Amino acid sequence: MKAQTTLLLMVLLSAWIAGCSPKVTESREVLPQGMDDFYAEDFHIGAAINRAQILQTDSMAAQLLKQEFNSITPENIMKWMYIHPGPDSFNFDMADRFINLGESQDKFIVGHTLVWHSQLAPWVESIIDDKIFEASFDTHIQEIAGRYAGKIDAWDVVNEALNEDGSLRKSIFLEKMGEDYLSRAFKQAAGADPNAELYYNDYNLCQEKKRAGAIALIKQLQEDGCKVDGVGIQAHWSLLGPSIEEIEESILEYSALGIKVMFTELDVTVLPNPWDLQGAEVSQNYEGSPFMNPYPEALPDSVQEALAKRYEDIFMLFLKHKDKISRVTFWGVHDGQSWLNGWPIKGRTNYPLIFDRNYQPKKAYEILRILKIPS
Ligand code: XIL
Repeated sequence: MKAQTTLLLMVLLSAWIAGCSPKVTESREVLPQGMDDFYAEDFHIGAAINRAQILQTDSMAAQLLKQEFNSITPENIMKWMYIHPGPDSFNFDMADRFINLGESQDKFIVGHTLVWHSQLAPWVESIIDDKIFEASFDTHIQEIAGRYAGKIDAWDVVNEALNEDGSLRKSIFLEKMGEDYLSRAFKQAAGADPNAELYYNDYNLCQEKKRAGAIALIKQLQEDGCKVDGVGIQAHWSLLGPSIEEIEESILEYSALGIKVMFTELDVTVLPNPWDLQGAEVSQNYEGSPFMNPYPEALPDSVQEALAKRYEDIFMLFLKHKDKISRVTFWGVHDGQSWLNGWPIKGRTNYPLIFDRNYQPKKAYEILRILKIPS
């Protein structure tokens, strides 16, 4: 009798273990591993990557990139001055490596950027003849978009064509080619790579006047018969602005154009802004001072909390409109890499991203994870 009871207990115990263990394994297997997994049903989670990250010499960043992000944008190496440094010289080495990395990790690959007045090669600025300028413009787009056709998923075709009041920026492209340069850029890009998604990308696109200008610009492109798949709102933001209401209004208005909305260069500065500086015009620079660099050693807990809360508010809004948003890309993998350590004041210590200088997740990361996987 005793032996029978023991046997029965053993049978029941092994049945219980057998019943439980697959569940444990199963739940471990399906547990999401990174930000891109948490948000897999919602939108791509991307990062802008620098040279060391493309070359994988920064092994900690390489690990984060692999685990946490499913889209990549080149922070600099595809900009005109690097990829097309002379009229007949193209430097594709780093861009090829960037594409190979993206393909090997099955990431959504964004090209940044074909037409931009900043980080332009000096030879372009010295072209005197307008016809030669136009031909160089065409060649630039055809060669680069053509080379990566079928490999790259999307292009920031034109970057930052607008002034703050919504009028067209008097860039070298506007001066030499007139307003038509915009539709020409989109048509050339579509011709060189018919399958890539094509975007207009800019900063301060949530502010009323500039937003109206961007909407007019995109409508004009659509009327001109251009394929415009989306708008890239750069999202170089601060703890205070833009407001969630402004961002929401922008998502609704851009998406009403029938295009995808993306947040393409997200970072949240926690440092004082010099004077009334807004936006991300990279030519602006300001002298440093201790007042402007308040956290050279570490971020105080209160500010860490405020940053996390700001990211929470932003992502709650993104989730509310996930049907309209296709990608959220951080402008860098971790704080140490951020351009905001050097702009608009050189040599500051900023903390704008969700991974810190030691490649560790910050409070903001935890909150963004809990939004999707409540613990
Ligand atoms: C920045 C890079 O992060 C810096 O490394 C570089 O020195 C200047 O450009 N808007 C854009 C990005 O579209 O290409 C800029 O990137 C940041 C502002």
